[in-house]
Amino acid sequence: MQKQISPASRLKGVVRLPGDKSISHRAAMLSSIAEGPTVLHNYSTGADCQSTLDCMKNLGVSIERDGTTVKVSGVGLHGLRHSSSPLDVGNSGSTIRMLSGILAGQSFESTLIGDESIARRPMQRVIQPITQMGASVDAREGKFTPIRIQGKSPLQAIDYTPPMASAQVKTCVLFAGLYANGETIVRESIPTRDHSEMALREFGADVKSSQGVISIQGNPKLTGRDFYVPGDLSSAAFFLAGALLIPGSSITIENVGLNPTRTALLDYLGSIGAPIKIRKFEQVSGEMVGDIEVQHAETKAGVIEGALTAALIDEIPVLAVLGALGGGLTVRDASELRIKETDRIAAVADNFSRCGISIETTPDGFTVPGGQKVKPATFESLGDHRIAMSFAIAGATSTDICTIEEAEAASVSFPEFYHYLDQLTQQ
Ligand code: S3P
Repeated sequence: MQKQISPASRLKGVVRLPGDKSISHRAAMLSSIAEGPTVLHNYSTGADCQSTLDCMKNLGVSIERDGTTVKVSGVGLHGLRHSSSPLDVGNSGSTIRMLSGILAGQSFESTLIGDESIARRPMQRVIQPITQMGASVDAREGKFTPIRIQGKSPLQAIDYTPPMASAQVKTCVLFAGLYANGETIVRESIPTRDHSEMALREFGADVKSSQGVISIQGNPKLTGRDFYVPGDLSSAAFFLAGALLIPGSSITIENVGLNPTRTALLDYLGSIGAPIKIRKFEQVSGEMVGDIEVQHAETKAGVIEGALTAALIDEIPVLAVLGALGGGLTVRDASELRIKETDRIAAVADNFSRCGISIETTPDGFTVPGGQKVKPATFESLGDHRIAMSFAIAGATSTDICTIEEAEAASVSFPEFYHYLDQLTQQ
C-alpha cells in the first residue's frame, strides 16, 4: 500500500495510544503459563502481538480477543501442548526470541518460523543459552529460521552474561529459568528494558534484580490476574518528534508507559531542548504510566552513544529525522540497528538521500548535520514499521505531498498510526 502524506500545518490535540508492544508480548506469554484466567487490558493492536497470541493458541491456550481486551485461560507452567503446525511469529523478533525460552522448558518439540525479515535475523543469541540449559536446537545454518527446539524438563539453571545488550535475550533466559532447577542468573553490563522482570513479579515469580544481576527461581506458581498495558512510548515517539518539528504544534499523549528503562528517550529530548512535561504519574500493573505534553521547539545537536543507544534503540530512526531538521545528531554503538526488521542505518540513509538530506554512516551509527529540509519524495519503508512511521513524520514536515511505499508496515506495531497522524494534523 502506498500512503500519501500531506504537509502538516501543525500537530495539535490529545491522544491516547494503543498498548505497549514489549509489555503486551510478555503479558500474553506469562498469562498463558499462569494458572487460571487473566484479562489483559489495552493489549497492543500491532500485528506482532497478535502473532504472540496465535502462537500461544497453537500451544493449546484458550484465548479470546475483543479489540484491546484479551481473555487468556492460563494452562499453568506445565500445561502447554505440542503444536501440530509450526509456530509462525510473522515479523516479530520479540515473539521468536522470548518464546524460545518457554519452549526450551517443554517436554515436546516445537518449530518456529516467520516472515522474510525474521529469516534474515540472527537467532544464535537465544539458541546458545537455551542449548546450554539443556534444550536441543536445530536451525538453518545454525542461526536462522526455521528453528526446531526439542525442549527438556527440567532445564539446567545457568549464570549467563549475554554478549550484547538485549532485553529479548535476557527475557529468553529468564523465561527458560522458570523451567530450570534452582536459580538462573542473567548479568547485564548495559541495562536493557526490564518489563520481563516487572511482569514476572506481577504474575508471581521470584525475580531479584540489583546492579545488573537479575536472578529468577525455577518452578514458581504463576497466577492469572487483571493486567493493564500502558500506551506505547515508542509509538508516542513519532508524534513527539513531529510536534517538536512543526511550528505551532502542541500535543498531549495520555496514559503512556514511563518505565525508567524506556524513558531515556524523554531525557534525551529534554537534553536537546524539548519542552517535555509529564503529568499524572502513577503505577499500573507494576509499570509507571503518565501523560506527556510537548510543544514545538528548536532542538540542539545531540549525541547518542553507549548505554543511551541501547536504551532508545527503537527510537533512533525518528530521532534521525528530528536531528536532520533540528540541530543534528551523531549515533554511535548502534550496530544492533543493522539487524532489526531491516538494516535501519542503511534504511535511514537511503530515505534521507531520496529527500535531499545528507548523512554519513559508519558500521555502527551515523552523523546527520542539522538545519536540513525534507524535499518532497517517495520513501521506502522496506517493510519496516519504524521506517514507515519515521518517514511519514519527515513527509509531514515537507512542502508538498510525500509518498510512503509499503506504508502498511506500520501495522506491525501501530496499525492506527496514519489515523492518529490525520487526527492530530486536522485539529
Ligand atoms: C524489545 C527489545 C529490543 C527492541 C525490540 C523490543 C523487547 O530488542 O529493539 O523492539 O521487547 O524486549 P533487542 O532485545 O534485540 O535489543
